[in-house]
Amino acid sequence: MIKKALFPAAGYGTRFLPATKSVPKEMLPIVNKPLIHYGIQECMNAGIYEIGFVTGRSKRAIEDYLDFNPEIEEKVKDSSKAKLLHETNEMINRCTFTYVRQKEMLGLGHAVLTGEPLIGNNPFAVVLADDLCEGDVLSQMVKLYKKYKCSIVAIEEVPQEEVNKYGVIKGKEIEDGVFMVEDMVEKPEVDKAPSNLAIIGRYILTPEIFELLKITKPGKGGEIQLTDALLKQAKESMVIAYKFKGKRFDCGSVAGFVEATNYFYKRDF
Ligand code: UTP
Repeated sequence: MIKKALFPAAGYGTRFLPATKSVPKEMLPIVNKPLIHYGIQECMNAGIYEIGFVTGRSKRAIEDYLDFNPEIEEKVKDSSKAKLLHETNEMINRCTFTYVRQKEMLGLGHAVLTGEPLIGNNPFAVVLADDLCEGDVLSQMVKLYKKYKCSIVAIEEVPQEEVNKYGVIKGKEIEDGVFMVEDMVEKPEVDKAPSNLAIIGRYILTPEIFELLKITKPGKGGEIQLTDALLKQAKESMVIAYKFKGKRFDCGSVAGFVEATNYFYKRDF
């Protein structure tokens, strides 16, 4: 039922300067695979093969990664290294990748709206590739979508002093780990947050979100916030928040990136 995913990947990645001057944050490798590789695998595990990217200036490396490179293929073809390209080639063969450019970086909400031509009138997943998840979070959310058929945000409990880095929800628990959203605040002050349930970079959105984004005014930080549009949707119809099972690494921060590198090195090598 969820066939498409959107990867907003136009942000500047300023927390990772100077690397992100020329390398897209989404292309930073966790061990030997860039962040988008893990995100796309998570999509494929959830049965999603139509993948759209919202990109911006200096993000062309993403397109190159998701295309064959005949010279390199030729170079490694009879060696043990050929298998290193196997997973990426499978992605290229099985998925379709489409791209649209966000010309001005006006926020995550604006990036999602920019992706509308790639999504159309369909429910879709949103993956922020710098949130690297272990445990097939999207598959869990797709299952939940089948039951509730509304927009879903993935949440996790974070230490109270860190709530100001996230969108934070207030909600009523309607089944184990599933909350009906009543309120949602983008980067609240630590002592004013409605809870410590923070939204992480996995969403399932119904296409009504596009109309709501079109009328969403700039919010926190002067950016068009997805959280603000989702709050409207929660009030007008229904949005649920899902405490996913698994582990998330904030690879947009140096500490999270190092933690993920150690974790995946131990897991995969
Ligand atoms: P972040 O808040 O992590 O911003 O964006 P950022 O620019 O990527 O990184 P920092 O904070 O400067 O280090 C969350 C997600 O939304 C995308 C980003 O690419 C990231 O996946 N985004 C954000 C856009 O695509 N466009 C925007 O205008 C803003």
